[in-house]
Amino acid sequence: MRSEDEMVAYALEAPTALLRYLPELLADLEELGSDAEAIAGAIDDLDPTISTTVVDLGCGKGAVAVEVAEKLNLKVCGIDLFEPFMESCKELAESRGGDVLGALDQTVSVIRQYVKTGGYIVISDGFIKDGGSSDFAGFEQYADHDTMIARLTACGDTLLHEIIEVDICDGNEGELITARAKAIATRRPEIAADVLNYAETQVAEYEYIEGNFVSAIWVLKRTQ
Ligand SMILES: C[S@@+](CC[C@H](N)C(=O)[O-])C[C@H]1O[C@@H](n2cnc3c(N)ncnc32)[C@H](O)[C@@H]1O
Repeated sequence: MRSEDEMVAYALEAPTALLRYLPELLADLEELGSDAEAIAGAIDDLDPTISTTVVDLGCGKGAVAVEVAEKLNLKVCGIDLFEPFMESCKELAESRGGDVLGALDQTVSVIRQYVKTGGYIVISDGFIKDGGSSDFAGFEQYADHDTMIARLTACGDTLLHEIIEVDICDGNEGELITARAKAIATRRPEIAADVLNYAETQVAEYEYIEGNFVSAIWVLKRTQ
């Protein structure tokens, strides 16, 4: 069983020793993997009412939670294990005036316990491109589109919408993280190797994603 620190570090692909530097390393990024605008659009398409509450599990710095609260005027509950991100999330929410879990089939089976029959689940994830490879650390559980859809709907839920995301990366995320890593390495030579290695793996991952991975937003309707 992973500790909370290990879960956060795993989700952010960093060694636990770097946890305290992640807020600085990721200071220039608001979205940490999800496309906030597209997810807000997917939720909007579900015609939420004024009494709808959205739970953003693994909300990170709040990019999605705040976008949904602001654009759709809904109550959003953001949950994240990493305290510094929850602080960033509150700051973002204040500044804008507004308020996660294993393989995909396991994720859905956990989340759907909190969703009533007929309720919706919005998943921001992805699949391996045709001809792409899952042979990259952290992506081993990914498969081609049809296999991922089979996992997604393994509990019998209905797939209502699929939004395929093109160019989800800005293209300069690796450079931004590397610049932050160099600043930390200069200040703290004793962790220079770890922090520079983290930046390098992030750069490699952005390159891997570009060539092998397709991001998608899936909207599921829970069945009985
Ligand atoms: C890759 S980040 C994505 C954050 C956000 N969805 C975004 O795209 O900006 C994943 C987040 O999940 C959080 N996390 C990991 N395991 C968690 C858990 N068991 N409960 C709550 N949050 C968790 C991490 O702290 C991290 O902020």
